[in-house]
Amino acid sequence: MIGLFERLAQPFLHALDPEDAHSLTIKMLTCAPLPRSAGDDKRLAVRAFGLNFPNPIGMAAGFDKNAEVPDALLRLGFGFVEAGTVTPLPQRGNPRPRVFRLNADRGVINRLGFNSQGAEAVLRRLAARANAGGIVGINIGANKDTADRVADYVRLIERFAPVASYVTINISSPNTPGLRDLQQAKALDDLLARVIDARERVTRRAGPTPVLLKIAPDLSLAELDDVVGIARARRVDGMIVGNTTVTRPANLRETGKAKEAGGLSGRPLLPLATRMLGETYVRVESAFPLIGTGGIDSGSAALGKIRAGASLIQLYSALVFRGLGLVAEIKSALIAALERHSLDSLSELVGADAAAVTAEPWPG
Ligand SMILES: Cc1cc2nc3c(=O)[nH]c(=O)nc-3n(C[C@H](O)[C@H](O)[C@H](O)COP(=O)(O)O)c2cc1C
Repeated sequence: MIGLFERLAQPFLHALDPEDAHSLTIKMLTCAPLPRSAGDDKRLAVRAFGLNFPNPIGMAAGFDKNAEVPDALLRLGFGFVEAGTVTPLPQRGNPRPRVFRLNADRGVINRLGFNSQGAEAVLRRLAARANAGGIVGINIGANKDTADRVADYVRLIERFAPVASYVTINISSPNTPGLRDLQQAKALDDLLARVIDARERVTRRAGPTPVLLKIAPDLSLAELDDVVGIARARRVDGMIVGNTTVTRPANLRETGKAKEAGGLSGRPLLPLATRMLGETYVRVESAFPLIGTGGIDSGSAALGKIRAGASLIQLYSALVFRGLGLVAEIKSALIAALERHSLDSLSELVGADAAAVTAEPWPG
């Protein structure tokens, strides 16, 4: 049903400005009467961060920035949804146009800059669905003009920990000037100390909420050494690898649009993001699980992320080109891989190729 609807709607959506198409998709999901999807094969279940995921496929942050449609996305078959990025105060983000489709490359460039309805509106929606079940995390970020970025994260943790399945600290968006500086060792250590402390305070009344750290795929390996060392020392519950890239692979075909400022995602990001995932996995040494994100547009790309070190995966850009049918396609491919290897859990494949991935020439 949704597949047919999508096939009819996609050419129309692609004729629109990407941001208008996105707003319309959110509106459609808000009112579409979606049936609950059939239960997942038990072999796809993943336990991570103390949570039970019915399947490992998540909707990445940025699609449902204001938590308007998390339950619709769960009904469509996602194993979890990451709402946000939400900022403490509402803000408009950068001037439009600020999202560009690179059709020939199956990529997207965005420089949205944390357009957010703000914490109050998002909190109200998450609180209203808090007992609905399903894993809905929230991705948090600082306001562009804030005087104290760290205080923004602390405030958001305190507000959202009671209503979210997990909280992701986003310090890797390329579209808020200076934000990525929080990945530098001293700043990151200070941020995580205060964030984890805030989480501990809230835990006393709201129960434990896992805290994840989302990093950029553009870190140098020396920077990654520091980030992983600090994340381990400060005992974060997991990491997401990663956000969009400010680099532009040499083989992009849409050379005009490739010059737009912003973060690149989708298929052209896959090699770099998977390499950084493998590099992170070998440094984390199973201290906590990883979510692999960036360029997943097929069952084999999803399996590649798991084999490079991801316990869970997230996707966004490929939905623009492939539609929601991709979620079911990935599930079938993962089941087929389990059957090929006579396994009954994906956990046995996590990181199986990390050593090989990190030995390859650096992706260009
Ligand atoms: C239009 C757009 C908006 C995004 N907004 C956010 C965001 O608000 N917060 C965030 O952490 N990541 C954001 N992302 C990054 C995605 O969550 C994801 O990390 C990245 O796109 C790589 O995955 P993909 O190649 O499957 O899209 C955004 C991506 C896109 C394409």
